Amino acid sequence: MVLSASRHHRVSRPRKTGSPAPLVAPSVTMRSELGALGVSPPGTERPVDSSPVSVYDPAEDPFRRRLGRLGGLLPATHNPVAARDFWAVVRRVGIVRSAWYSVRLRGRVLIARRARVKIRHSATVEFGPGAFLLHGFLHNSPAPASLELGRNTTLTLRGTAQIWRGAQIKVYQGAHLDLGDRVIFNEGSRVLCCAGIKLGDGTGLSWGAEISDTDMHPIRVNGQWIDEQAPVVIGDHVMVAARAMILKGVHVGDGAIVAAGAVVTEDVPARCAVGGVPARVIARDVDWR
Ligand SMILES: CC(C)(COP(=O)(O)OP(=O)(O)OC[C@H]1O[C@@H](n2cnc3c(N)ncnc32)[C@H](O)[C@@H]1OP(=O)(O)O)[C@@H](O)C(=O)NCCC(=O)NCCS
Repeated sequence: MVLSASRHHRVSRPRKTGSPAPLVAPSVTMRSELGALGVSPPGTERPVDSSPVSVYDPAEDPFRRRLGRLGGLLPATHNPVAARDFWAVVRRVGIVRSAWYSVRLRGRVLIARRARVKIRHSATVEFGPGAFLLHGFLHNSPAPASLELGRNTTLTLRGTAQIWRGAQIKVYQGAHLDLGDRVIFNEGSRVLCCAGIKLGDGTGLSWGAEISDTDMHPIRVNGQWIDEQAPVVIGDHVMVAARAMILKGVHVGDGAIVAAGAVVTEDVPARCAVGGVPARVIARDVDWR
């Protein structure tokens, strides 16, 4: 990872929306919005590098190459596949439940034994081409993974989504969770989706990281009721580091890093690292693998 100088600049102002709307906009629209966030505030420093972020290419994976043709059947993943991870998945898969959910949801689903899944019949799971849901594998967390889709919710899978042991994903009534390709939810991470949350390709949530688009309670400040929920959009190849928290209405640009323990309340420009409470830009032109 390369962290450049140019520190201590405020994150751009948030774009809070009045009423929560489900996120159904195509990714092209999201990218152009996030591209706009990559522009530095006027009169500050040089513009942020706009070259493509370094997303891992599964074609370069040595383990896949070793498996030959069979390697081509493995789902695309966030990191190179280690042989021990592959066998950990094979050993722990709940065969009957995986088969049942693959048929019920009409997509490719692998569920580990003891992982929790609760999907209402009115919920929709949309599988894009090559989409794969890996739920409840890896890590020796004492807690199983949990995926809950409430009434009339939508989960869109645009590629491989890995929900590791100890991670929790909860989509409340009528909300839309949209996951890009090679998205990863590490142990203890949590997503609470009441309006709409979109994660771009190659984005990862580290240990204990959290994204929430809701305050969960109506809150009055100086006599005014504030918006209880607003959609969250995270770009491609974003690292949400350990115990970071991203709150309602925030847009995070492509290639950004949300530092450990940050509480993000405002938009984050592309390829910037933000940290602290509330989060401020601590480095520009960052990259990570
Ligand atoms: C973002 C990160 C990479 C910064 O690392 P770094 O460049 O070595 O940071 P430095 O120690 O050089 O600090 C640079 C500045 O940023 C600040 N800073 C660094 N990390 C910070 C954090 N987590 N929160 C707030 N400020 C932070 C420092 O105080 C310092 O400010 P200063 O210039 O005023 O002294 C690191 O903090 C981080 O979050 N790493 C991810 C850890 C993690 O969760 N990994 C798991 C991934 S699965």
